[in-house]
Amino acid sequence: MYKYLSADEFKDSKEMKSFFQLFKRYIENKSVKSEVSWDEIKSPTHKEVVDYKELENGTIQPNVILPKLAVLKLNGGLGTSMGCVGPKSVIEVRDGNSFLDLSVKQIEFLNSKYGSNVPLLLMNSFNTNRDTQQIIKKYLNSNCKIRSFNQSKFPRVYKDSLLPVATSLDDDLDCWYPPGHGDLFEALYESGELDQLIDSGIEVLFVSNGDNLGATVDLNILQYMLDSHSEYIMELTDKTRADVKGGTLITKNGKVELLEVAQVPKEHIDDFKNIRKFKYFNTNNLWINLKAMKNLILEQKLKMEIIPNVKAVIRNGQEIPVLQLETAVGAAIKFFSNAHGVVVPRSRFLPVKTCSDLLLVKSNLFDLKNKAYLTLTPERFFGGNPLIKLGSHFKKLKDFQERIPHIPKIIELDHLTISGNVFLGKKVELKGTVIIVCSEGERIDIPNGSILENVVVTGNLQI
Ligand code: UTP
Repeated sequence: MYKYLSADEFKDSKEMKSFFQLFKRYIENKSVKSEVSWDEIKSPTHKEVVDYKELENGTIQPNVILPKLAVLKLNGGLGTSMGCVGPKSVIEVRDGNSFLDLSVKQIEFLNSKYGSNVPLLLMNSFNTNRDTQQIIKKYLNSNCKIRSFNQSKFPRVYKDSLLPVATSLDDDLDCWYPPGHGDLFEALYESGELDQLIDSGIEVLFVSNGDNLGATVDLNILQYMLDSHSEYIMELTDKTRADVKGGTLITKNGKVELLEVAQVPKEHIDDFKNIRKFKYFNTNNLWINLKAMKNLILEQKLKMEIIPNVKAVIRNGQEIPVLQLETAVGAAIKFFSNAHGVVVPRSRFLPVKTCSDLLLVKSNLFDLKNKAYLTLTPERFFGGNPLIKLGSHFKKLKDFQERIPHIPKIIELDHLTISGNVFLGKKVELKGTVIIVCSEGERIDIPNGSILENVVVTGNLQI
């Protein structure tokens, strides 16, 4: 038998009040269909989704707009999908720099170039705060002032009974969860940071995922946001077949909204995935007006769709399904006035979700410009990134580092698939389409200095 937390223990904290509100909303709407009515949705108009090229012609006044900007990195998530125990943002990505180091260095560069004081805010969670604080110590004297705050810690509930997993407030970490990046609004407000930003004259917050190396401050978008008095701008980019599941912008009842695959009726899933019909997807690079955000928080209007996420906890050697209720920051777009999408070049969306992505950003395909910005090398004249698929032996960061200790040269690579127990030597170069498949129980070592071009390697056999 499990013991459950008493309501008294929960109810006193502000955090728990927020949890109860979310939970209540979930219970009340559980039976209501979360799917959109397909006939009500329309493609956004040209005014609602603007092409980035159209912003490039305006006059930019860095000295006027940069004092109005703060940058925020969403840093509450763990790198569990890459087998890491700590925050994903501390993984080393390039020349000894972690995601976090690169984010700081990008702002240091910006501030030195324009003599500005753009601050960096980190939204941490109880999972990431300690390690993050350790890393940022070294930036104490930097010209990029780093401020951090913690997002909420909500209780997981058993999927079947909806009762909390925790039996006391000090219970194990697996009894709790950070409730998604939609928590940003409340966490920023409750931490006092939102008021501080507004009081210091900052108007716009540029939010992005901590692992998106392409999400750098863009003066064209900032100038456009301020000139057009838009309260919320979502950067979208062209969908390819690889990102058919990403959320897209639609218009409903005259307002732009984010449409996620979970809201699409089954019979329209193929329509949703059709890259000609829904051309763009959300990069989660978001520009948000702070005063508008505060007003919406005070009016309690930011009620984004609840995403019920099922996970498991191990109790007495058994996996027990638990539920965590989350929200997404992009879903808030519909509450803001004059909200826009801007279709940006793919280079502004460079996320690292898997070790295959990590191989890409660590490789010579990208240059590290001004020691901070990853840019596609001009030597890749035929454009686009190669498609890299590393098998399950490369899922965990530790295994990836052991198997590919030296990153191969891939400027001329189109497609790489590696499956099985494969190890790459030093100074390997991969060109065209390279497929390496190792059968179970065997091992393939690609020797130092190998150049593999349009080749299939299986065991000792080369075709
Ligand atoms: P997501 O969880 O949406 O995407 O987090 P992800 O990191 O790509 O997760 P996987 O790999 O698909 O499972 C996007 C960003 O939001 C942050 C994460 O740290 C990441 O930078 N995040 C997520 C938070 O800050 N808080 C949360 O509660 C969840």
